[in-house]
Amino acid sequence: SNEEPPSTDLITLTRHVLNDQMRLGPAATGDLTLLLTAIQVTSKFIATNVRKARLINLVGLAGETNVQGEDQKKLDVLSNDIMVNALRASGKTAVLVSEELEDAIIIEEKNRGRYCVVFDPLDGSSNIDAGVNIGTIFGIYKVDIDGSASVQDVLRPGSEMVAAGYTMYGSSANLVLSTGQGVNGYTLDASLGEFILTHPDIQIPHRGKIYSFNEGNAMYFHPPVNAYLKSIKYPAPPKAPYSSRYIGSMVADVHRTLLYGGIFGYPDDKKSKNGKLRLLYEAFPMAFLTEQAGGIATTGTQRILDIVPTGIHQRCSVFLGSKEDVQDLMKFYQDPS
Ligand code: AHG
Ligand code: MN
Ligand code: MN
Ligand code: MN
Repeated sequence: SNEEPPSTDLITLTRHVLNDQMRLGPAATGDLTLLLTAIQVTSKFIATNVRKARLINLVGLAGETNVQGEDQKKLDVLSNDIMVNALRASGKTAVLVSEELEDAIIIEEKNRGRYCVVFDPLDGSSNIDAGVNIGTIFGIYKVDIDGSASVQDVLRPGSEMVAAGYTMYGSSANLVLSTGQGVNGYTLDASLGEFILTHPDIQIPHRGKIYSFNEGNAMYFHPPVNAYLKSIKYPAPPKAPYSSRYIGSMVADVHRTLLYGGIFGYPDDKKSKNGKLRLLYEAFPMAFLTEQAGGIATTGTQRILDIVPTGIHQRCSVFLGSKEDVQDLMKFYQDPS
């Protein structure tokens, strides 16, 4: 047969990130590399719990409600604890913001580093019990002044993030990361316990054929959104209508959008005045990745990464994906006819 022997030169996530660091020269301290290593470990730890959830009584409710008024699942709480513990212990963090915690955690001085991590420990909670893809989303800021640590350090536009990424727990665990020089995807090789570079330099196709919205909310959508959806479902011949794909886990819907192209949307509407998705730990990291992959992320009228947050759990309208598809959507906001 003409099968190639297995590669003996694997590019692991750690190796890849270290390489980046070495390119920065002696000025780089390696702190971000160590922080990303800590995040990697949390992803492996959460991935193994997700796999075993059904077997070790990890499905179902935890019995508490979070600040968003959502019933927390056992895996939401466990994933949050895994991340808080690992990030604090890394010694590289100053401020932590989690979907599951009402207040930001200010890391005590003896464990304090220079980075702030905002995260959604477990995204797609409603899909857990059905075994459908879920994930973890994170964004990283660097404090302005060394030694400082306050909530102000994360109330900054998403464009100031130094890195962002997510891990999707699906048929395999996939970690997708940007440190501001493009986007790379890694797949967990469970037998090695390492994330291996499998998707170098991800670029979103300029146009896709898929739209991803919870159209069950269409009666609440604002006119530009419904007019746009109509335009892709009933195009002028000979154009073909778009396909619909909606998983209900942002991580999975965005992952597919990055790889296949098209548009993902969770707009604000007549019922949810500011939309549903949270700016700091859902919209910003995904907008950062989308732009780094050559796509667009907008509220419909404003670049998401330009928003200056005023609260850690604030929400925002989100449309992201292929450049041409998102531009088509934005036209309906400019000229609602
Ligand atoms: P989370 O599970 O972290 O609370 O996030 C849920 C979010 C996001 O994953 C998804 O895009 C969206 O909620 C789905 O909402 P609907 O069920 O309203 O479609
Ligand atoms: Mn939630
Ligand atoms: Mn989420
Ligand atoms: Mn969540």
